[in-house]
Amino acid sequence: MNNYIEKVSVIGAGAMGAQIAMSAALGGCEVTLHDIKEEQLKKAEAELQNILNRKVEKKRMPKEIVEKAFQKLNFSTDLEEAVAEADLVIEAVIENLEIKRKVFSALDKAAPATAILATNSSTIVSSQLADATSRAEKVCNIHFFNPALVMELVEVVKNPQTSEETVSKAMKFAEDIGKTPILLKKEIYGFTVNRILNAVFDEAIYLMEEGIATIEEIDLACTKGLNYPIGPFKLMDLTGIDVNYHIRKIKYEETGEEKDYPQKTLVQKYEEGKLGKKSGEGFYQY
Ligand code: 3HC
Repeated sequence: MNNYIEKVSVIGAGAMGAQIAMSAALGGCEVTLHDIKEEQLKKAEAELQNILNRKVEKKRMPKEIVEKAFQKLNFSTDLEEAVAEADLVIEAVIENLEIKRKVFSALDKAAPATAILATNSSTIVSSQLADATSRAEKVCNIHFFNPALVMELVEVVKNPQTSEETVSKAMKFAEDIGKTPILLKKEIYGFTVNRILNAVFDEAIYLMEEGIATIEEIDLACTKGLNYPIGPFKLMDLTGIDVNYHIRKIKYEETGEEKDYPQKTLVQKYEEGKLGKKSGEGFYQY
């Protein structure tokens, strides 16, 4: 393998996986998107077609670029076939440690010995996955943001065993596909963005629960007072209230501190299935 990442496999065709795969294809990589469900791959392909067709219609992107990217994007339900020639594998399956460890163990067997195995996880650090493989030095987090086609930042996170070569290839890959990578030298819960974001979410929920201001007013405070593109409540609806609930739950399980338990509003929304945009209602109605 040379220093360049040419062939990328993305495991899991949810919203994140699909857009990561397309970002890499637009960046010139040969990409295979894998999911165990054929229907999920079809759904991902249709969603990507929709997003990119709109870009062509709005003259944001030339048709030829989009067509070329789709030629570089392959779909497969066969994991072994999907990673057989990969230089880099990015796992984006459900946030469940046991499942991710099984996936990493399978990837280790199926991918070339030279391939980097990365996780897009924001809550599971790669040192929890590295020992499920025989190549700990080639394992790291490469964390994209939602929606991955739009958001430029990528957090590359080293675990104690990640080699410098792996780090520099991961950073270069992110740059080559037009992203802006930052390197976290040590694993820390929430990395950088989610630590900052969760502090904002916590404060927004506190202000709302204390009756200091309404959801709409707190969102306005951030959009008009801080120039955030959208306010924290709109953003929780976009990323999913269940995601935020689970982040809090995991933190509480780690610290055991009452203050880290999901706030009563989060628990209520979660139990009512009001998970944000994807369920039609969260803090706002859609
Ligand atoms: N997928 C792909 N592209 C999308 C999209 C989506 N779901 N939603 C919007 N876009 C694109 C549109 O196509 C449009 O592209 P164009 O400029 O080429 O026409 C552009 O984004 C702007 O879209 P709109 O004008 O329709 O809407 P907005 O102005 O409201 O922008 C947004 C949408 C870009 C999502 C904007 O609201 C935003 O930046 N929100 C903040 C997102 C954010 O903070 N993400 C980080 C979340 S934290 C995270 O991901 C961590 C994880 O671990 C949980």
